[in-house]
Amino acid sequence: MNNKDILAAAWQQLEKATVHHKGRPIGTVAALDPGPTALNYDQIFTRDFFVSALAFLLNDKFEIVKNFLSVTADLQAIDKSMDCFKAGRGLMPASFKTIRENDKERLLADFGEHAIGRVTPVDSSLWWLLLLRLYFTFSGDREFVVQEKIPKTIKAILDLYLVDRFELIPTLLVPDGAFMIDRRMGMYGHPLDIEVLFYAALRASREMLALTPGKENKKYINEIDHRVGHLVYHIRTYYWIDKARLDKMLTNETEEFGTDATNKYNLYSASIPDWVPAWVGENNGYFAGNIGPGRMDFRFLTLGNLLAVMTSLADDDQQQKILNLIEHQWEVVAGEMPMKVCCPALEGREWHIITGADPKNSPWSYHNGGSWPFLLCLLAAVEAKTDRTFLTKGAFNAIAKKLQRDDWPEYFDGRDGSLVGKEARKLQTWTIAGYIAAHTLMENPKKAALLSFNSEVSGGAACPL
Ligand code: GLC
Repeated sequence: MNNKDILAAAWQQLEKATVHHKGRPIGTVAALDPGPTALNYDQIFTRDFFVSALAFLLNDKFEIVKNFLSVTADLQAIDKSMDCFKAGRGLMPASFKTIRENDKERLLADFGEHAIGRVTPVDSSLWWLLLLRLYFTFSGDREFVVQEKIPKTIKAILDLYLVDRFELIPTLLVPDGAFMIDRRMGMYGHPLDIEVLFYAALRASREMLALTPGKENKKYINEIDHRVGHLVYHIRTYYWIDKARLDKMLTNETEEFGTDATNKYNLYSASIPDWVPAWVGENNGYFAGNIGPGRMDFRFLTLGNLLAVMTSLADDDQQQKILNLIEHQWEVVAGEMPMKVCCPALEGREWHIITGADPKNSPWSYHNGGSWPFLLCLLAAVEAKTDRTFLTKGAFNAIAKKLQRDDWPEYFDGRDGSLVGKEARKLQTWTIAGYIAAHTLMENPKKAALLSFNSEVSGGAACPL
């Protein structure tokens, strides 16, 4: 198949994956694989649909995105509970589907009460906010975003995410399995992917609430400005790893008490994995996967790092260093199928303890070092925003051919990402949509500007001390 045919085939599959409710398109199922039991892959996942939505918006198809935003806003308002315990209003479903009951069609949502491992999606509401802003920037449909239910939904989410907590830091404390990596993988705490998404969602909410100024909205905007400033400072300062930071960490003071401590998290240099110095080299850098008391998770989380570049959470120097790292460590972070969702993989005893001996997450598979082609769209967006060429036309064409030939798998396995994932679904929708979005961005790099935020952070990115 040539490129034109592959693109046409991808569009055809995306149309087939589209779900209708009361005659209107409202989303896309996670996968159309006719083989194994569907589990919940026949549902519309909020995070997966973000990628479909990107493909639609970049190609001026607005209707389905608008309907999705509207039905999920309604789903958010319903009572959700497990074992009689109710969750907060601002929570959005991980996934939902249409069901027929008494000859009537209705939507059935899963907020984690059905999911394997009962994982709650901390990311869904954040993807929703970001998508709302994208829908508005692409379509200009002010009427939709200012109708009563939309600001109401935004504020319900903010009430949940900006609530006072036990911590003195601006990041969100989240359990394992709360986002794209929705199984036990040692992500509990303050995982980068969620924190960057939180930042982007706050900025998106600010823009949306500013469309309808008023006393109440102003209160939320002030709160957002305050939080975003701290969040940016916190992530840029504490999650960052480059040569200079590493040198400092090697000679860290420890056991410091008081506000003057230089090693605030009391990190021990012996905890730095052997691979880190060579990985960082002289000119590379990245945001660590997680940080907490006595703990820095050095794993590279691709989604968080790419999103940090795309949304300008990373400052200019950090952006360049992250891109350097992707370039210099291409064989590890991308290999034959961009990109690994998290690397390096946990192996041996570490895998046993941290994943709970999860065979699906065996080393270099699935979330544990597996390669997820949906990330191509973020890579293409970052490439379009900057001066890099990771996906030259030739490389991208080869990837497209492989995806089409292998039937659009959910993920790939192996250190080099060359093997179709051992339990990967075929005809996985975000693989297909990710390819379409990447293709569109490569043809029209200017469109990437609509996905980005300017680097001026309202509220300032400085520690107010
Ligand atoms: C798997 C992935 C999750 C995705 C879902 C549907 O559970 O881990 O990130 O949203 O499949 O594709």
